[in-house]
Amino acid sequence: MIVLGLETSCDETAAAVVSDDPLPLARRIKGEVVLSQLDEHRVYGGVVPEVAARAHLQHADRIVAETMEKAGLSFSQLDAVAATGGPGLIGGVMVGVMTAKAIAAVHNLPFIAVNHLEGHALTARLTHDVAYPYLLLLVSGGHCQFLSVEGVGRFKRLGTTIDDALGEAFDKSAKMMGLGYPGGPAVEAHARSGEPSRFSLPRPMRKRPGCDFSFSGLKTAVRHAIEGLPEGPLQENDINDLCASFQAAAGDVIADRLDNAMEMFKADHPEGTTLVVAGGVAANEYLRGRLMAEAEIHNMAFVAPPLHLCTDNGAMIAWAGLEHLKAGNTDALTFKPRPRWPLDPDAPKAAFAGVKA
Ligand code: KG4
Ligand code: ZN
Repeated sequence: MIVLGLETSCDETAAAVVSDDPLPLARRIKGEVVLSQLDEHRVYGGVVPEVAARAHLQHADRIVAETMEKAGLSFSQLDAVAATGGPGLIGGVMVGVMTAKAIAAVHNLPFIAVNHLEGHALTARLTHDVAYPYLLLLVSGGHCQFLSVEGVGRFKRLGTTIDDALGEAFDKSAKMMGLGYPGGPAVEAHARSGEPSRFSLPRPMRKRPGCDFSFSGLKTAVRHAIEGLPEGPLQENDINDLCASFQAAAGDVIADRLDNAMEMFKADHPEGTTLVVAGGVAANEYLRGRLMAEAEIHNMAFVAPPLHLCTDNGAMIAWAGLEHLKAGNTDALTFKPRPRWPLDPDAPKAAFAGVKA
């Protein structure tokens, strides 16, 4: 089976064609193009929804055409076309959904609306053929959750952030340090030359039952740490040390929460053997190292997608679409984009405002 997927829910205009050929990955991903709108948003220090939607509209057709050309395929050789149907910035999602629907209508193909989070969640099956069920840590700019991934479209949320997502904490901390947007990669780069024990930052939620997260206190502590430094522009070594201290705190929190998540997962699924990390923050090498160490302690295999498949991309949407197609799930052309779309609709609302799922 061969599926085209479009991703337009944030600031990447991306498309890919994937197949269910046996691994390696290079054979599965027939063609992919990711256009990051970094320059458009950098001047504002973050993603501006209206600017993003217009840029998606401007580029979507060309990105699809380039992807098909790379794959060396015509639309008639596809089995379906998938697009992110939500959650995300609604203007962008509408552009991707309309583009995919048009292709589906013209070429008489099934259309599949993919949950963006499921795209991240199933990437480890595209890259490593990980079997269901597995424990997933989904960490991105908008989400920070532990999930049992039980099958296509079947998720149980074990824990989530009660305030900010970790990617958001990376981005906001980076902004406070004047590191610009997107913050995650910049913080990681500075942390490499920093001293992680210089600033004593909090480890929110540590030792609490369950596996929920909270990161807004960590972000505030970064602000206080900056205020405690001498007036004037931050020095390079201060930035490096603060980034390393921030990352160490995030790593400690994740390791602590993961202990409980593993227990909860294994109670439901003693047959599950794999921990998977997904989402933009999964690109962070330091955090990947921490997760791998934890997995080893718990005798679990650890799978992290290659870096370019951690941040938003078309291949994850095409693959999730392919899995749904195989399961017989397609969507009508009347599908309406969904700004909110939790993976586990039965999960209780998390405690505070600003909850992302
Ligand atoms: O999954 P993604 O591309 O978009 C969302 O669906 O949110 O994730 C973007 C997030 C941003 O917050 C970005 O700062 C973070 O992922 N990120 C990182 C790294 N690369 C991207 N965070 C920490 N370290 C990184 N290397
Ligand atoms: Zn994402």
